Amino acid sequence: RRAERSLHEQALESAQQFYLKSLRASPDAIAYLKKRGLTGQIAQRFGLGWSGEERQGLMRVFADYQAASLVETGLVIESEDGRRYDRFRERIMFPIRNGRGVLIGFGGRLIRPGEPKYLNSPETPLFSKGHELYGLWEARQGIRKEGQVIVVEGYMDVVGLAQHGLENAVATLGTATTEHHVQKLMRASERIVFSFDGDRAGRKAAWRALQACLPLLRDDVSIRFLFLPAEHDPDSYIRDLGLEAFRACLGEAVALSRFLLDELSSRHDLREAEGRSACVHEARPLFAMMPEGVLKMQLQRDLAERVKFTPEELAAVMGVSTTVVS
Ligand code: GTP
Ligand code: MN
Ligand code: MN
Ligand code: MN
Ligand code: MN
Repeated sequence: RRAERSLHEQALESAQQFYLKSLRASPDAIAYLKKRGLTGQIAQRFGLGWSGEERQGLMRVFADYQAASLVETGLVIESEDGRRYDRFRERIMFPIRNGRGVLIGFGGRLIRPGEPKYLNSPETPLFSKGHELYGLWEARQGIRKEGQVIVVEGYMDVVGLAQHGLENAVATLGTATTEHHVQKLMRASERIVFSFDGDRAGRKAAWRALQACLPLLRDDVSIRFLFLPAEHDPDSYIRDLGLEAFRACLGEAVALSRFLLDELSSRHDLREAEGRSACVHEARPLFAMMPEGVLKMQLQRDLAERVKFTPEELAAVMGVSTTVVS
């Protein structure tokens, strides 16, 4: 197992060296990064590369293009008829490292219109999208300096924020936020700010993230949500409006408690008994996920107020105890 692991790491590192070299040789890829507002310094910091355009570009790197490790790491795809070709072509390459700095996969973005816009390495024992966060390794110092971690949707959001001086952002890898992600985030910082795109998909992603947080809520961890204007993501926002404007948004990020209660309230008409009752029913499984603690008690008290219950009545309905837990 260990030998296989290091074989995979070596394959990924060799590919990474190739992508770096290819970028230096590609005026088109460099022009794309410049157009996105990135300097060479930031590209270097994140190890951004270029896949090249050839079907079998990695043949230049690997003496044995037939080696099993190339398919196992997802660098190479084998079609039904046994023919092999590079997974990543015509893409800006974002190397993805785990918490110990080990290269575990790549994300790749087309520089011209096409589908899919982004392509990731496939799931492997070394690379699980539900566990890993893009940029966590690169952000480890920034997170300490800023005293918080910002969670965004995209690779370009992480890199774009860093370009403007915010080096504490990480991204989920095109998947919903999982409890594993939240565990990693809580280990990285006791202040977490989710900052997803301002569109409907972003708002939905935030709600999913909130649900992943609920089982792990702790009284000593602050979790907030930042909602950008609908047409923006963190990268476009900071590029158009600048660092200070983004910092101002960060300062106004809403607490998890408020997002939870506002979202629950907005889904029902709380002026009617029916609406208040439906709201309690929707809240019930969410509260059931939360560990006992002062924060949960506070939330229950706030919800009780909104649905016109005493805290005791609400607790009885929710089937949970009101007794104080340490
Ligand atoms: P830019 O267009 O380069 O600014 O990227 P973006 O990050 O703003 O893209 P978007 O908001 O559409 O997507 C956010 C993240 O979702 C990306 O960083 C990817 O991880 C993922 N994603 C987006 N499009 C695709 C796709 O076509 N396929 C896959 N697998 N993932 C995608
Ligand atoms: Mn989006
Ligand atoms: Mn974007
Ligand atoms: Mn986006
Ligand atoms: Mn700028």
